[in-house]
Amino acid sequence: MPTAATKSGASKTKTEKPRRTRRTGRRDPVAVRLLKQDHREVEEMFDEYEQLEKAADKLALFNRIALALKVHTQIEEEIFYPAERGEVEDDMLDEAYVEHDGAKKLIAEIEAMSPKDQYYDAKVKVLGEYIKHHVKEEEQPGGIFAQAKKGDEDLDAMGERLKSRKEELMAELAPAKPN
Ligand SMILES: [Fe+2]
Ligand SMILES: [Fe+2]
Repeated sequence: MPTAATKSGASKTKTEKPRRTRRTGRRDPVAVRLLKQDHREVEEMFDEYEQLEKAADKLALFNRIALALKVHTQIEEEIFYPAERGEVEDDMLDEAYVEHDGAKKLIAEIEAMSPKDQYYDAKVKVLGEYIKHHVKEEEQPGGIFAQAKKGDEDLDAMGERLKSRKEELMAELAPAKPN
């Protein structure tokens, strides 16, 4: 017998995209919140990059993007993905690792270039699109995060581990700042 929830009332609107976390008003667990927040921040930086003209500004922003992506992919690979083995479809997790590797290679290529080089902007743009695709695989309905939330792993506790590892890595990988 269908549940009452299948009855859609007259108030049905044309919102095709159910926004994230509508399920019974529950908030995302800490781990998912933290990872999604990283995603939003890096998306914003890629958008911001589009507005820049000066090589020095581009380089400075790209360095921030690269740092954010390195730290984010590393905490996922060290903590989140391994814990989700067995909870999330294997193929999906395997692809996520391969996509991280692809992103890292592109980051290394860009780091070896100057913003004045031909293809620098193009590579940053392609990296942004690549990351957007990857983020979608993680966040979309039925994707990695959705499957993880259905699993047994305590994602609030994991969030704390992600947070402290992120802080460590930010300090470790950030370029030394002249005072
Ligand atoms: Fe990822
Ligand atoms: Fe991610």
